[in-house]
Amino acid sequence: MKSEENRFEKLTRPEVNKFIEKNINKSIPDLILKGSPFKDVDIKDIINQIIGKEKAKKKLPHWYKNEKIVYPPKLNLEQTSSEITALHKSKLISCKTLLDMTGGFGIDSYYFAKKVISLLYTELNAELCRIVKHNTKAFGIDNFDIKNEDSIEFLQKNSQIFNWIYIDPSRRNEKTKVFKLKDSLPNIIEHLKIIEEKSERFMLKTSPMYDIQMGYRELKGVKEIHIISVKNEVKELLWIIDWRKQNSRL
Ligand SMILES: C[S@@+](CC[C@H](N)C(=O)[O-])C[C@H]1O[C@@H](n2cnc3c(N)ncnc32)[C@H](O)[C@@H]1O
Repeated sequence: MKSEENRFEKLTRPEVNKFIEKNINKSIPDLILKGSPFKDVDIKDIINQIIGKEKAKKKLPHWYKNEKIVYPPKLNLEQTSSEITALHKSKLISCKTLLDMTGGFGIDSYYFAKKVISLLYTELNAELCRIVKHNTKAFGIDNFDIKNEDSIEFLQKNSQIFNWIYIDPSRRNEKTKVFKLKDSLPNIIEHLKIIEEKSERFMLKTSPMYDIQMGYRELKGVKEIHIISVKNEVKELLWIIDWRKQNSRL
């Protein structure tokens, strides 16, 4: 872990940042051919930073402005919520404890952390956990606990009950994009019972392609559905679940 922290420190030092900024929008194959101008920084990490910064400029301006931020591979970055939609979600909650079961690049977690006393981020991918750990330090956040483990197993092993559980299941399955909950990871349809046992309230993000009637059939306790659109494009459906409620008819 120490050497990884060192790797991210080297990658975000001023002269490396300057090189990265200079090469935004330049040809990636050319850069790979030339190799890294820094002995202690891998060209693969530099390329990730270049692609990450290009994407972050619009989608994650707060991240883009912080020179210490490390970006994950493009695929992980494509799966994250945008800053504006994450901020909207965070406005819907205010509580002591929240578990984010699919931490990813931590954009949703970052905004939730501002609204809770303690936030627990769980994520299967170890590299994402290392990157998010570095980035939370760069932002000076201290109520953000990171666990590199399967969130379903975590719920099965632990007795804690969270005020809120949030989930944004992975919608990539062997290189194709999926939108049904049963095809996403984790498959929450199979694990609704344990989520209900371990949370007072539950927030679920789905693809805009996920059928609302199907959601009413598959989920219980649907209290609110938010259709989140940015500049007239629907980006996500947000399901607020109150376990004490019966689904109302559509
Ligand atoms: C759509 S991304 C989440 C993006 C995140 N909301 C953000 O704002 O950056 C889904 C993430 O869930 C993770 N994941 C999938 N199944 C998991 C599981 N059982 N436990 C923990 N993480 C899981 C994937 O590795 C992926 O990084």
